[in-house]
Amino acid sequence: MAILAILVVSLICGLSMFAVRGASNDQLEVYSWWTGPGEEEGLAAMAKSFEGGNPGVRFVNAAVSGGAGSNAKAILASRLLANDPPDSYQRHAGLELLDDVRSGKVQDLSDMYQQQGWTKVFPKGLVSNLTIDGKIYAVPVNIHRANLMWYTPKTLRELGLSGPPKTWAEFLQQAEVIKAKGKVALALGPEWTQKHLLETVLLGELGADRYDQLWAGQMSWMSPDVGAALATYAKVLAVSDVKSAAGDWQPQLDRVVSGSAVYAVMGDWSSSYLEQTKGLHWQDGYNVAASPGSDGVYDFLSDTFTLPTGARRPDLSRKWLIECGSTDGQNLFNPLKGSIPARTDADAGLYKDYLGWALQQWRDPKVRIVGSLTHGVVANNAYNAEIDSALGLFVQDGDQGKFARTVEQQFRETQ
Ligand code: GAL
Repeated sequence: MAILAILVVSLICGLSMFAVRGASNDQLEVYSWWTGPGEEEGLAAMAKSFEGGNPGVRFVNAAVSGGAGSNAKAILASRLLANDPPDSYQRHAGLELLDDVRSGKVQDLSDMYQQQGWTKVFPKGLVSNLTIDGKIYAVPVNIHRANLMWYTPKTLRELGLSGPPKTWAEFLQQAEVIKAKGKVALALGPEWTQKHLLETVLLGELGADRYDQLWAGQMSWMSPDVGAALATYAKVLAVSDVKSAAGDWQPQLDRVVSGSAVYAVMGDWSSSYLEQTKGLHWQDGYNVAASPGSDGVYDFLSDTFTLPTGARRPDLSRKWLIECGSTDGQNLFNPLKGSIPARTDADAGLYKDYLGWALQQWRDPKVRIVGSLTHGVVANNAYNAEIDSALGLFVQDGDQGKFARTVEQQFRETQ
């Protein structure tokens, strides 16, 4: 009897495996961390367009939730290690791509860039962030901005604050008023949001030139200027809700919407969440300013897709990448996602309200562009992981000197 049961179970398993394998021939598995409102719809819009252009092919959405890829990246790493890649996966432009390239996990897409004319339609600076040793490895769908501070005009009015702070010193002054009125000055979320805050404090306090120098290893973490910026960061943390931080970036913003906290520093994926999920309108329901000290600077990041080595259907992966890089794909995706197109020739008229402002800033030649730490541009994965560990300790124990020494040393060890 037992043997019969085992035989039946194995037969069923065998058949279902056969069925999955059979189906996998005509399916494209795309891996990302877009499961939240706005981003999920944006991805679905591109998926529908892809399926429409490739009749009979199924788009398999293999998204893993967790802001900034906090869970997705770890699971992806084990799949890549086991040589079980999806047909395409999300990465950020910049040094985040380096490991995949060095370990042969992604394929060179330079030929596609030639065929599609992409070198002419993506900004030069962006393409150089996708190029390693002369070869181009990913296709960007969008541009996001990280150095932003979100708030509601209603809460500012209630507190008698005339506007968001222009410097971190002014933020700390406002924080005293805010505390006296029983609110929290700054909402935070999990560790990656604390790092996101760190990069904006460094940018605001050091300025764009020294911010760039820091990531290039041309400025020491132990210099007095960085020391002063880290001291400011510690003060900012002290007036935040870090001790009872929210579970992810959406509940972090919820605290601002409910008015229990006044500000949140977060990237501009926030705009689609605030508009589509919370039903708030830019400038009256919610508003946003450059994070303190960073007006005129655009701390950018870009979501891209890759062609993994060993993808089951590289022909379909390439078609997906064409969808991602196309004007139509970018116009379908970005207004829903709450990002602006990577293509320079996309129709600006589709980008309204906050996104219209973002696009105008991005294209303004007077605006200075720098790269995000938390979202992959300026630090390789090993260095970024070391910063994560050191920052986790710094947030707990406040030992700024130890943090600076560790990060300084890790920069040298991870290059
Ligand atoms: C970023 C990503 C954005 C958005 C955000 C929050 O790393 O580039 O597209 O997903 O995380 O999860």
